[in-house]
Amino acid sequence: MEMSNTFEVRINAINTEAQGILSYEFVPVSGGELPAFAAGAHVDLQLPGGMVRSYSLLNSQNERHRYVIAVALDSKTRGGSKYIQEQLKVGDVLHISRPKNNFPVAEDAAKSLLIAGGIGITPLWCMIQRLQDLSRPWELYYCVRTREQAALLAPLKAAGEGGQGIVHFNFDHESGGKLLDLGPVIAAQPPGTHMYCCGPLPMLAAFESAAAALPSQEIHVEYFSAKDAPASEGGFTVVLAKSGKEVFVPAGKAILDTILDLGIDTPYSCMEGTCGECVTDVLEGVPDHRDVFLTKQDQAANKKMMICCSGSKSARLVLNL
Ligand code: FES
Repeated sequence: MEMSNTFEVRINAINTEAQGILSYEFVPVSGGELPAFAAGAHVDLQLPGGMVRSYSLLNSQNERHRYVIAVALDSKTRGGSKYIQEQLKVGDVLHISRPKNNFPVAEDAAKSLLIAGGIGITPLWCMIQRLQDLSRPWELYYCVRTREQAALLAPLKAAGEGGQGIVHFNFDHESGGKLLDLGPVIAAQPPGTHMYCCGPLPMLAAFESAAAALPSQEIHVEYFSAKDAPASEGGFTVVLAKSGKEVFVPAGKAILDTILDLGIDTPYSCMEGTCGECVTDVLEGVPDHRDVFLTKQDQAANKKMMICCSGSKSARLVLNL
């Protein structure tokens, strides 16, 4: 487990935000300020048993005395949210990473369109607070099954009443409700609008499809889980360029696991291609990309890869390790 760049925080408050959603306020263990962050950032929580889970910071980036995250209980995941909701209590001390930002907001955009599904509202609420501070126009579509499952309803309503931003709620499991059709929403935006989406995989796929013809630098998505299965075919050789060592990756094993088993230290965190921690330069060969961190352009260029989940299409890969 990569433990550099982590530090301790204390849980100062736990609050119920909506049905199945709790928020956690972290403060410095021994006073002072926390490392600065920008809207869209997340932190990795180090949990027992080597579990690492990433959560977006939802409070204003102006605050240095606390970080706030929200955790939705998800029975389909590998147990991180269940542990957090059932075991953690006020006063507990946790190891967390410094904030990382793979989902920054373009502060000078003519307009920002934000599309949230469920707990995906958290980084977008942080962005809205920033856009409000900067007096930039924004519009939010917040899709949730029911009103009871919607976190941050009150502050979002208040932000939407200020005149600078527009808030649309879409409760698709309530009477008369239906899934939001993203195509017309995206088509209605003025040129130069930067668009952000954070939510479940089907929503992200619909968003990326509806926005496919737009300039890629204006389209921003945040994945919290992998969309493809990790590469497990194996049967190729990795050359570690710095030492010249050749390593055979067998079927059923990831490049990262193979390298770690040899006692070679290299950074990693999520192990599923979402966090970007294990990004590695590719000097020769063709990776089989399975991550959601690199852009389509980066993947097509084959100059970088995520070694925790991606494999190889060529018999040999030379990596800058
Ligand atoms: S460890 Fe997170 S992307 Fe590889």
